[in-house]
Parts: sequence; C-alpha cells; structure tokens
Amino acid sequence: MCGIVGYIGHRPAAEILLRGLERLEYRGYDSAGLAVTDAGTTEVLRSVGKLSALAEALKGHPLTGTLGIGHTRWATHGRPSEENAHPHSAGPVTVVHNGIVENHLALREALEKRGHVFRSETDTEIFSHAIREQIDAGLSLLEATRKVLAGVEGSYAIAVTSTTEPDRIVAAKNASPLIIGLAEGECYLASDVPALLQHTRRVVFMFEGEMAELTRDGYRLMNLAGEPIEREVKQITWTPSQAEKSGHKHFMLKEIYEQPRAMVDTLRGRVSLEHADVHLEDVHMTEAFVKGIERVVISACGTAAHAGLVGKNLIEGAARIPVEVDLASEFRYRDPVVGPNTLFVAVSQSGETADTLAALREAKARGARILSVCNVIDSSIARASDDLIYTHAGPEIGVASTKAFMTQMLALQLLAVWLGRRRGTMPFEATRDRLQALVELPGVVEQQLGCAQQVLALAHKYMNARDFLYLGRGVNFPIALEGALKLKEISYIHAEGYAAGEMKHGPIALIDEAMPVVVLAPQGSHYDKIVSNLQQVKARLGQVIALVTEGNHSLDGMSDDIIELPPVLEALQPFVTTIPLQFLAYYIADLKGTDVDQPRNLAKSVTVE
Ligand code: F6R
Repeated sequence: MCGIVGYIGHRPAAEILLRGLERLEYRGYDSAGLAVTDAGTTEVLRSVGKLSALAEALKGHPLTGTLGIGHTRWATHGRPSEENAHPHSAGPVTVVHNGIVENHLALREALEKRGHVFRSETDTEIFSHAIREQIDAGLSLLEATRKVLAGVEGSYAIAVTSTTEPDRIVAAKNASPLIIGLAEGECYLASDVPALLQHTRRVVFMFEGEMAELTRDGYRLMNLAGEPIEREVKQITWTPSQAEKSGHKHFMLKEIYEQPRAMVDTLRGRVSLEHADVHLEDVHMTEAFVKGIERVVISACGTAAHAGLVGKNLIEGAARIPVEVDLASEFRYRDPVVGPNTLFVAVSQSGETADTLAALREAKARGARILSVCNVIDSSIARASDDLIYTHAGPEIGVASTKAFMTQMLALQLLAVWLGRRRGTMPFEATRDRLQALVELPGVVEQQLGCAQQVLALAHKYMNARDFLYLGRGVNFPIALEGALKLKEISYIHAEGYAAGEMKHGPIALIDEAMPVVVLAPQGSHYDKIVSNLQQVKARLGQVIALVTEGNHSLDGMSDDIIELPPVLEALQPFVTTIPLQFLAYYIADLKGTDVDQPRNLAKSVTVE
C-alpha cells in the first residue's frame, strides 16, 4: 500500500519527508517522490525503486522549502515508473494519493475533452487536473478539492498543495488511512503513525469522508460538506516497531485483521448486483473463447495452490468446466496436455515464484491462454499473462500468507461467476444471490475475527502437541490443507491436512489420545459424512476441535472443543473456516516463541527452483 507524508513548519521539509517515508517502507513500494514548495514554486523529485535512489537524486538536486508532501507508491494503475510515481502536478497544484479511484476513466476522459493533457497512466492524476480547473475558476484550494471529491468514487487518502496558497496543505480521507501530527508551529501528515513518532506523539486520526487543512498554526477538520468537526487529540504510547504493526505484535496478526479490508479492495468496482455480473477490468477473453474453453488448469505453489483447489470447486460449480489443479513444480516437468482451448490460471501473491512462472511459460508455449491472479502489480507473472485479476490485498510482509490467500480465493470466486455468466451456466437470480453474499462476506469475516480470544485459549491447551491432523471435505478440504501448512510453517509442529474420507485409508493409524484433530464441520452437503469421520476420531480417543455452524450443538458431546462459524453459502465457507485456523497457527507459534513473521528456512518470494 502506498504511503503518504506531509509537512508544514519552519524546518527544511525534504529531509523530514524522506525520513517519514523511510518509516513507511514496511508498507511496500516500488517508487517514491517528494514535492517541496518554496517562494511560490513547487519542485517535484521522483524515482523508481528504493528510497535510497530518491535520497541520491535529492543530493544532486536539493529541494528547499518548509512545506511539502511525499509518497511511496505501490502500483495499482500503471506500471512502476518515474512518470507514474507521485506527486502528480498540473499547473499550480500538486497531489499525492493512496487508494483506487473507481471512476477515473470517465473523469479522465471528461478532463481530456476539456483540454487537460495527462502525463501518467495513474488514476491519481485526475485529482491534480480537476483541482487545478476549479482553482482556475476562482475557488480556494480547500473548496476546489472539496468540489472535486464530490465526483470521485472509490478509496482515497490525498494530500494537495498549490502555489496559489503556499501556506497550507489540504488533505482528505475515504477508506485509506491518514493521520495528522501536531507540534509547535508545525503540522505533519502521514498514512501511518510510525512516520510521525520521531517528531510528535500528539496525533489526530482522520475518519471516512473527512477533510483537513493544515497550516503552521494548526489544523481544521471538517466533513465533505465543509462542516467543522471536533476530534480529541490522541497521545501515542506505542514504540516505533509496534506502530508499524498498528499495535499488533506481528505483521502476520496485523494482516489477519486486515482481511476484511483487503477483501473489500478485491471486490471494489467489480460486482454489479443490478446486472448480476462481474466486471474484470484486465480480462480480455472473447466470448467465443470463453464458450470454447474445454479445460481450466490452475497452477500454483503452497498456499496459492490451496486457493487454486478452492477455485476448482467454485469454477466447476459455477461454470461447469472441468478444472485441474496442478502444483507448478510438477506441471512444469511433466508433458502436460494443454492446448488452445485450455485456460491456464496461475495464482501467485508475489508474481515472482520461479516454479509458477516456469509452468506458465510451459502452458503458453503449448498454446494455452494465460490468466493470472496476482497481488504484486507488474510482477513477472502478471507481465507474462494475457488476462489478469489483481487481488489488491496490499503488501503482505509476514512470510505466511494470510490476506493474500483470502483474496486469491475471492478473485477465483469472481472468475467463477464471470465464466459462469458468459457460458450461460449461472442464471440471473442465482448469480445475484451469490454476488449479494460476496458483498456481505467481508462483514462476515470481520465477525469471525471475534473468535481470536477463544482460539488463543485453545492454543495454550494444544501448544505442546507433537502432531496435528486437519480434516475437511468438499470446499473445506483445501482449508484443511491450508490450516496444516500454516501450523507447520510458523510453529514447526508436524501437521497434515487430509480429505476426511481418506482418513480410514491410512492416517487413522496415527490417532490416539495425544493427537489433536481439527475437524471442519460446518452445515452443508458433506455434514453427515464429516460427522461420521469425527466419530471415528473420537472412537480412537483423538482430541477433537470441531468447527461448526453457530447454534449447532449436536457435536458438543463428541468434541473436546467447539469453534462456531456464522452461516454462509456452502461455496463461501472457506472464507470463514480459514480464520480460526490462521489464529490457531499464529497463537501456537507465538506461545512457542518462534519467529512468526520470518520462520526459519522460508522466504516470502521463492525465486529459485
Ligand atoms: C505459505 C506461503 C507459501 C506461498 C508460496 C507461493 O504461507 O506463503 O506457500 O503461498 O510460496 O507464493 P506466491 O503466492 O508468491 O507465488
């Protein structure tokens, strides 16, 4: 996610902005820039890559002035490049932005028709041109920004300066974080607290739909209608490292809690309830190709492959196309049967995983059409694809995939509906119901996050187990695999995920009173069968942790512990069953004192075979 900083005071701004951006590096970025205003002019400096490149550029071209804004960009619209890096200027106006403007194409087209010339591929640039237009028409910077925001749909945090009023910064926030920092004769602005802590601990959190005007004398907070808002100034007591994790002990825990927000970003602008359809902006298959698809092959590694297995269920169910899921490291060394009527789907958070990229190239060489589900914009896998669905989960810092997994499943769910609609296998009403459930899903996941304290108690109880077994059926079988992978990779406890019906063919031999068995048993078409499997575990004295739909008490007598799940459509159960398993792995690892965010021997991006 992009990072924003702003400063107005009496000290040189450039150095303060650069140090502030360094504190936001953990958010992930691919380019950076600064704009400093002095004596009625604004100078902008931008560079691709690390902040050290910007610092180097600054040495050769110092920016003087005591007012400025800065930005680290994590690409969402347009590749990482100097032209796309922020700040973006038009006439006297300079803007930095974090978020996604959903209606930017329409706004850009209208501005271009009125003679504005765009210099980047970003959605952000609409702000600088549109605000400039209003200032030219006689409005103040604050009023101009307010007027423009009234026509903007989507998420944003912005900071705007104008040489026409070189004594203020205007800021606004909607669904992207923005915080004001206060000191004597100075005001700061930042996407997150760590960027402020070296200067002040007195902060004001901006809320949705709010604007602020920052001057050397202080700040004014208001809503988008211009009505003043009073807000308590908070005293921050976090250490800088706690602040980076929003007060959480580890990035993994922060990212688990970010999942509802990440899911909203995956869905943003893609769901139309009115037309009962999904809009995938970077998918360009023709209708004839979609109708002629004979097979879908999903290929990925690790957690992404588990998302692929969920995707298989969803695509087969919605679009009635046979789907195969192949581990990329296996696919690439086989003699795979793929051809021009195959849709090959690569799933990868980083977009750089060597095996997935090689599998993709193999499929491409054999004539398959390539669609990728990626988180990192313009990554190698994204660039090598014909069609793309970006997950927009934001950077994931913890090595163990959590929000990336959740948004990969969601992106595959969108693909399933998209294919189903075009192949005539998803009727209007059923699609609308499914999409309505998808729109409600982030809220349901938020509710499921409430199980954290209960799962922490279970972690205390089971942390010394030597092995774990996870059982699931149908759409929850991949979640059993994912739960086991999460536990082993961060707690170093041996764990296996199994299709519950397979247990009697081998793993049942492992079960005794020392073996915790996590059974995914929400209500649905597999319920009776999984209850039989649970009984088989109990008959061998295994310790059962059952995940059941709330209100179902029929397993109380057969289970040692019960975790309740809100009721959701069966196809969407993986989104709720995943949460307790992430918490279980996290809390056991934390209690054991392992390096949760950087488990031994693991890397976030596996670019070797
Ligand atoms: C496990 C995990 C890994 C990745 C795998 C693929 O928590 O994160 O199993 O899922 O290395 O990585 P990407 O998605 O970047 O291709």
